[in-house]
Amino acid sequence: MKLTFFGHSAFQIETGGSLILIDPFITGNPLAESVVAADTLIPDAILVTHAHGDHWGDTAALAKRTGALVVANFEITQYLVREVGHQNVMAVNTGGGVELGWGKVTCTWARHSSSFPDGTYGGNPGGFMIETKAGCLYMAGDTSPFPDMAWLGEDYDIDVAVLPIGDCFTMGHEGSVRAAHMLNARRVVPCHYDTFRPIETDTDAWSKRMREAGQSPHVMRPGDTLEVAPTR
Ligand code: NI
Ligand code: MN
Repeated sequence: MKLTFFGHSAFQIETGGSLILIDPFITGNPLAESVVAADTLIPDAILVTHAHGDHWGDTAALAKRTGALVVANFEITQYLVREVGHQNVMAVNTGGGVELGWGKVTCTWARHSSSFPDGTYGGNPGGFMIETKAGCLYMAGDTSPFPDMAWLGEDYDIDVAVLPIGDCFTMGHEGSVRAAHMLNARRVVPCHYDTFRPIETDTDAWSKRMREAGQSPHVMRPGDTLEVAPTR
C-alpha cells in the first residue's frame, strides 16, 4: 500500500490497483496546491470523515467528474445525492464497516463537530479504520483522544495511525501521545497542522515527544509517499 500526503488531512492510498482519496481538500489548501491539482486525480473511492470544508474540500467536483464511490456518513452521502446529483455513495455510521473489494472500511468515532460550508448539518464526525491485504491504516479524523481508542488498539493490528496534531480544532501534541498509547500502532503519522496560522506547529518537537513516549513518529511533507508493507 502506498500512502501519499497532500497536506492538512488529505491523503491518497494506492492499493491493489485502486486509488482512494481521504478528505480531499486540495483546492484552496496552501500545502496541497504546490504538489497536486484536484483535476488530475482519478480516484476509485473517496472517504470523507466529516463535512467541514477543510475535509469535504473537492469531494463534490471529484465525485461528479470521476463518478467515484463516496464513503461517508448518511448526511454527507445524502447531501451528495440531493445537492450534487451524485448517486454512487455508500453511507456508513459509527462502528459500521463495509467491504469494498480493495479493503474493508469501518467508520470510527471522532469527538468533533460536522457541518457543511453552507451550514447544512453534516451528521456525526468520524474516522476510518482501513484494512487491506497490504496493511491496516487508522485515520482518526478531527478529534481529541477518546478512551475507545484503546478498543481500537486491542481489536486492530494498526500499521499506521494518522493523528491530527495541530491543536486548536483537534488534539495537539500531548493528546496525540495519549492517543498513540491507546492505539499501539507501528507508526504514527501526523496531520492537520501548518495549513493555517492557528494550527502551526513544530513537527520536530512532536517527533521528539513521540519518540520519548516509545512511539515511532513519521512526519510526511506534502507530496511524500510512505510504503506500507504487510506485516502479517
Ligand atoms: Ni473539522
Ligand atoms: Mn479540520
